Amino acid sequence: MTTGVWLVGGRGSVAVTGVVGALAIRAGLAEPTGCVTELPQLSGAPLPALAELAFGGHDVSSLSLVKKAQALADAGVLPAGPVRALEEELAAVEREVRPLPPARDQAEAAELLAADLTAFRERHRLRRVIVVNVATTEPAPAPHPAHADLDALEEALREPLPTAGRETRPGGGRGVLPPSSLAAYAAFRAGCPFVDFTPSTGARLPALHQLALRQGVPYGGHDGKTGETLVKSVLAPMFATRNLRVRTWSGTNLLGGGDGASLAQPGPNAAKAASKSKVLRETLGYVPQGEIRIDYLEDVGDFKTAWDLVTFEGFLGRRMRMDFTWHGCDSALAAPLVLDLARLTAAAHEHGRSGALTELAFFFKDPLGPVPHALADQWRLLCDFADGLRTGPGPVAGGPR
Ligand SMILES: NC(=O)c1ccc[n+]([C@@H]2O[C@H](COP(=O)([O-])OP(=O)(O)OC[C@H]3O[C@@H](n4cnc5c(N)ncnc54)[C@H](O)[C@@H]3O)[C@@H](O)[C@H]2O)c1
Repeated sequence: MTTGVWLVGGRGSVAVTGVVGALAIRAGLAEPTGCVTELPQLSGAPLPALAELAFGGHDVSSLSLVKKAQALADAGVLPAGPVRALEEELAAVEREVRPLPPARDQAEAAELLAADLTAFRERHRLRRVIVVNVATTEPAPAPHPAHADLDALEEALREPLPTAGRETRPGGGRGVLPPSSLAAYAAFRAGCPFVDFTPSTGARLPALHQLALRQGVPYGGHDGKTGETLVKSVLAPMFATRNLRVRTWSGTNLLGGGDGASLAQPGPNAAKAASKSKVLRETLGYVPQGEIRIDYLEDVGDFKTAWDLVTFEGFLGRRMRMDFTWHGCDSALAAPLVLDLARLTAAAHEHGRSGALTELAFFFKDPLGPVPHALADQWRLLCDFADGLRTGPGPVAGGPR
């Protein structure tokens, strides 16, 4: 193994689907269908092989990986055969999934999280560890002046946590940084690149951007694009380039599972809806009327349904409409992208990149930097990026967050 993939939220559906998938492909039990990095267009990039990935992670849950994988197989998300065949390998990964350490303040929490990363890297003699956030979506945090400056942030991290008791604050929750940003901070401190697959804040703070540059590590995000927004990023450019005026675009998303349950809360729901709303404004140049709804429907589990209705206007004012229904198995769509992102980010780090990896926009609903939001443009950006990793110039620091 050369490359560690440390999953924040390592016992969740996306994480466990990704681990089982990588182990199944390595064992010859599955094909890498859905892994973008296996396409010939990206094959020239010097990526670590899927078989070279070692997995670990943090989670607040204690449900075993084997039990979670069995539950995903029972729900029809994972095939049952490979889950049965890989129990031993999953038990080995289990030993590398840690609880969040209790801490007095967030500085101590970050130190303990970073120590877990360093110990994982050393135990497996890994060249590097990529930290990928696939934990529960958080509400957006209240703005804080310390988010803008690294020195101020490091001072604020040392403030005792409210109502402290060590046991009550696993992982240093409720401090100046939300958990996703504390995970990014700890990753950077340990010299690890960070990828945020969720809409949470993660590394998207000026102070953390400063730290990433200081430590010479890249980061990517935000919010994996796997369903409704993926389809929108193809259809909206079609309306735009045919000069058809989109009048309304309304979408309803119905999902269950852990993600659905978390998105039933107003804070995470608002963070996800904000992330999903970027694509139309960026590709059409205006915001058509209409809402994006995300509703929790326990019974559908990980099998999400998105139903979108679009009304538009053509030549001489002629009104028309289209609708589409997407039935996606969310974790099966997301997990291969997590593996892709870990491999591409590892190669970028090897190449000397630090700061925002804006070229990974193809994978995200709410990508970093001023980048195109149309999927075809993002694909070209990604292919050029992969070519550059093979042949391009030396280290380049990432631009805007
Ligand atoms: N599945 C998709 O298609 C998709 C697409 C884009 C984004 N996402 C995002 O990926 C994330 C994971 O989705 P999922 O379906 O696996 O959800 P899930 O509920 O199955 O898993 C989330 C895991 O995070 C853990 N967790 C919660 N707080 C934590 C913390 N502070 N530190 C470490 N672990 C913590 C939970 O215990 C759980 O095991 C969500 O934020 C979701 O919005 C998913």
